[in-house]
Amino acid sequence: MLSKILSFTIVGIEAVPVEIEVDIKRGLPAVVVVGLANIATKESKDRVSAAVRNCDFKFPIGRITFNLAPASLKKEGVFFDLPMAIGVLICSKQIQPQNSNNYFLIGELSLDGRLRPIKGGLSISLAAYKYFKKRNIDGALILPSENAQEAASLKNIKVYGFSHLKEVIAFLEGRLEVEEVKFKAKKYFNQNISYDVDFEDVKGQSFAKRALEIAAAGSHNTLLIGPPGSGKSMLAKRLPTILPELTLAEAVETTKIHSIMGLLEKGKPLIERRPFRNPHHNTSSAGLIGGRSNPKPGEISLAHNGVLFLDELPEFNRSCLESLRQPLESGFVHISRSNASLKFPSKFMLMAAMNPCPCGYFTDPKRVCRCQPYQIQKYLSKISGPLLDRIDIHIEILPVKYQQMRGKTKEETSSEIRKRVNKARKIQLERFKKQGIFANSQMKPKHLKKYCELDEESNKLLKAAFEELAISARGLDKILKVSRTIADLEETENIASHHLAEAINYRMLDRQLFI
Ligand SMILES: Nc1ncnc2c1ncn2[C@@H]1O[C@H](COP(=O)(O)OP(=O)(O)OP(=O)(O)O)[C@@H](O)[C@H]1O
Ligand SMILES: [Mg+2]
Repeated sequence: MLSKILSFTIVGIEAVPVEIEVDIKRGLPAVVVVGLANIATKESKDRVSAAVRNCDFKFPIGRITFNLAPASLKKEGVFFDLPMAIGVLICSKQIQPQNSNNYFLIGELSLDGRLRPIKGGLSISLAAYKYFKKRNIDGALILPSENAQEAASLKNIKVYGFSHLKEVIAFLEGRLEVEEVKFKAKKYFNQNISYDVDFEDVKGQSFAKRALEIAAAGSHNTLLIGPPGSGKSMLAKRLPTILPELTLAEAVETTKIHSIMGLLEKGKPLIERRPFRNPHHNTSSAGLIGGRSNPKPGEISLAHNGVLFLDELPEFNRSCLESLRQPLESGFVHISRSNASLKFPSKFMLMAAMNPCPCGYFTDPKRVCRCQPYQIQKYLSKISGPLLDRIDIHIEILPVKYQQMRGKTKEETSSEIRKRVNKARKIQLERFKKQGIFANSQMKPKHLKKYCELDEESNKLLKAAFEELAISARGLDKILKVSRTIADLEETENIASHHLAEAINYRMLDRQLFI
């Protein structure tokens, strides 16, 4: 006899349906798994046999073949334990489920039959929905209860969560009534998040704080340049506290990637805050961009809809930094390997910090820089012009003065700044409702034409800046985008000359102050 059960494997960040066929025939006892399974999948047979026996069933004696179709697709993960166990029990006529064809079954089994959580619940739920919709089947997804809320967050597919193999069997046989899992948005998508750090800890630095507020509001790439101890890392680490709230659509996109990598916190099926990824400068190209033989998303995709913070920018490997150029432009990264070509989303805001020279004190008003001009050139040349050109805001951070550091002035809190940022982001979300983008920094030329019209005075100002400073055509677009965000923070419809002037002011490197 033969049985067939539907399940999934993960390719990149997408789930792909897999049919598990089980065949038992008489002969010398042997269990064979065919269909390009990886080691973890091949080991399933031992877990399945133990779980079946420990649930008071018999693991059949004979030659048992598990075929994972399509045979040409490499399978990975431990998703197949549950469907293999159910398949073997149906095949050996120990259970008689009602229409098992309408279910996708996924889950890792422990030896006593308990179901353990799996990675990629959201991708699986999305793929199951597409599968059933295409075939017009009223189907459902059965998976470990820890993954149920995550899978149910899409709200368009029936999800059942279980914690034991025995429960799944009873449910499939119609002996156990289980309620469909409904996503509890209030409990699991709560935007009132508290942080350990706050902008009120940063004394002075009002210029930098304003620039970061604009960057957060419009998701603009930002570079902070300054001497050691001036507070660059301190400012950047407080950026998450003023980032605008994630929309549910953005949260689902981001969760999908984190879930595949097994990075979701226990009890948090949906990511509630924008990711802030801070990779060390030793990170490899595969770690940053994504890759490996069976391609997995890298830091830039984990930062999707959030921030990628590269501290000590010149210390990163140059080829790593160069590979950021294409994703920074397009918002996704294509990874091609001999066995697969995959596309990972990577719409992130780049935040970078660096010293102006190897000793760090070139722009310090008090300390003397001991670097030779060629050393400074060499240091700065680690970051290519095209990469710098993709950064919207570059500002100089100067050390805070003693009076400000020790003064009693109360600084603005992150929540006060975040209120303004949220308001400006709401304006952008409304503006780009049907355009498939979320923030000003993602505007394409057609959007710039429509939403960044300038009056005569502003036009003159921009022309003068273009002629006097070393601004590229891309730089010009960046200035317009930042001006749009400044106008949004002010809640004005048209970009005025003072918005433009402020945006030009955040282009330190175009002024060639020290390069
Ligand atoms: N404006 C400020 N208000 C309060 N504390 C500050 C300020 N600036 C710097 N500090 C203090 O100085 C410390 C060092 O700052 P930070 O690590 O951000 O410097 P940095 O600019 O990143 O230096 P480096 O170039 O060496 O990485 C902070 O942890 C903080 O204690
Ligand atoms: Mg630092």
